[in-house]
Amino acid sequence: MKNITDLIRMKERKELISFITCYDYWSAKIISETDIDAILVGDSVSMVMHGYETTINADINMLELHVKAVRRGAKNKFIVADMPFLAHKKGKKNTMNNVDRLMKAGANAIKIEGAEGQLDIIEYIIKSGVPVMGHLGLTPQSINIFGGYKVQAREEEEMNKLLNSAIALQQAGCFSIVLELVPASIAKKITEKLNIPTIGIGAGPDTSGQVLVLQDMLGLNKEFKPKFLREYLNGFELIKQAIDNYNSDIKSKKFPSEKESY
Ligand code: KIV
Repeated sequence: MKNITDLIRMKERKELISFITCYDYWSAKIISETDIDAILVGDSVSMVMHGYETTINADINMLELHVKAVRRGAKNKFIVADMPFLAHKKGKKNTMNNVDRLMKAGANAIKIEGAEGQLDIIEYIIKSGVPVMGHLGLTPQSINIFGGYKVQAREEEEMNKLLNSAIALQQAGCFSIVLELVPASIAKKITEKLNIPTIGIGAGPDTSGQVLVLQDMLGLNKEFKPKFLREYLNGFELIKQAIDNYNSDIKSKKFPSEKESY
């Protein structure tokens, strides 16, 4: 299993880092047999697995349950778990209980969105022995502030702010930072400026690594086709076809056959 030192060394050696999201046991079992470097149990679980419209509906019970399932399926992978909406905003004791639950569920690190207003708590969590990954650019928990899933930091002033936030997160002790939906040029600049790896999603080719949502890259989400996404399978159609084949085999009495009977 990789650890945070391995990931930082990969950046130093200019080896690209692969992350993928995962929320359940059987997907984790498949990922455990791949060369993927690390798994993110993201709060996108609330949208992808539970059908909510945003990540705001994810809570600590949901994340804990899914981290446990993923850990049971992928004992050999480094797992980062998202701190869900406001899970680190209701006092230090509550924050640390939530961190404790994710780590005991099987995470190796946690991820927190944003920098401003939470550097102190990030530093405290790290000093307590828990690695923290930052997340800048489009931070979906703040969707009501952004007013939509739009590319962030297009103007110079915002780019400078993003760079300063990334430096502040590194200074606070983060071992890596996700950069989501930002121009490739600023992602490259941040990556060059930092010692810690950046992991991009919609942030161009020059970050230290990439992350995609498993179901998106498998083509399972018919409604979600952003420019940054590459689909590696027409998963929706393939699965639908398999289920329809099963249905028609039942109806035409082709299944079960004699060989499939006792
Ligand atoms: O929740 C998530 O899946 C994420 C990734 C999109 C980076 O935070």
